[in-house]
Amino acid sequence: MAAAAAAAAPCRPLALLLVVALAVSVRGVWCSKSFTIANNCGYTVWPGILSGAGSPELGSTGFELAPGQSRTLPAPAGWSGRLWGRTLCATDAATGRFACATGDCGSGRADCAGGNAAPPATLAEFTLDGSGGLDFYDVSLVDGYNLPVLVAPQGAGAGGNCAPTGCLADLNAACPADLRVASSAEGAVACKSACEAFGSAEYCCDGAYGSPSTCRPSAYSEFFKNACPRAYSYAYDDATSTFTCAGADTAYAVTFCPSTASVKSGAQGDPPLVNGTMAYTGGDQQQFGAATAAARPPSRLVVLLGVAVVLALAGGRLITP
Ligand SMILES: *[C@@H]1O[C@H](CO)[C@@H](O)[C@H](O)[C@H]1NC(C)=O
Repeated sequence: MAAAAAAAAPCRPLALLLVVALAVSVRGVWCSKSFTIANNCGYTVWPGILSGAGSPELGSTGFELAPGQSRTLPAPAGWSGRLWGRTLCATDAATGRFACATGDCGSGRADCAGGNAAPPATLAEFTLDGSGGLDFYDVSLVDGYNLPVLVAPQGAGAGGNCAPTGCLADLNAACPADLRVASSAEGAVACKSACEAFGSAEYCCDGAYGSPSTCRPSAYSEFFKNACPRAYSYAYDDATSTFTCAGADTAYAVTFCPSTASVKSGAQGDPPLVNGTMAYTGGDQQQFGAATAAARPPSRLVVLLGVAVVLALAGGRLITP
């Protein structure tokens, strides 16, 4: 590298321009938006990621996150899809197949390779660069619940409807008995939607119930909505559950078992992120903010600008006797 820089010294201004141009274009393609997926739970979570039909892929479809770990994935322009957390996963000693008690994607491996989340699972759903150039996102309990999830946008556009959303309550123990999923070793591990538990058109918003005016909230959907007022509790719960960001470089922090202490509320008139009348019992309460910031890699623009400056300085020293 040093030899190349020395040989290029007479062309230093051009080389510098090229490096800066490369840095800017790399940032434009890969680094403008991102997801930082963090595990604040006291147990290991295996995030699963499914890209929508026709969407570009994210860099991973699934991986393991130990407690306190986080991982940042750059988001390609126009990405749409869903992220969720798989819990209680293990590799079967006899078959070698990897499987999870909740959120399993059927791949038999740590990556999901196009597999979808088996309900019940708390889903974080995204459509980047959608209608009007906006990013749309929500946290959905329409397919049930398995662990607390927070989506918090960060960047110049945050504020207004570009606000944190999620379901921060632990709804496993609180789950109505006829929706509860329990394992003999772990007790309550997930909470089904009424649609999955009973399969009726009324709860699933199918057939005669397939419109916002005919599919109404039920006592079951209200259990989810009371605990998590900003999350989708049934299919037509759009009014209070869809959020949008306009920023060109919004970073989305997706945190499993978030600490409620660090959460800022959104615009006035938005439903609260946490229902103050309900006790929060989820997750361990370690603060995650500092760990997330430390784990985030510097952007490629910063790294490449640094390289450009070093090259320019080296070139300057080489031609100045
Ligand atoms: C908070 O929870 C209580 C009890 O479940 C419920 O009556 C109330 O409507 C909830 N508030 C919101 C904003 O969802």
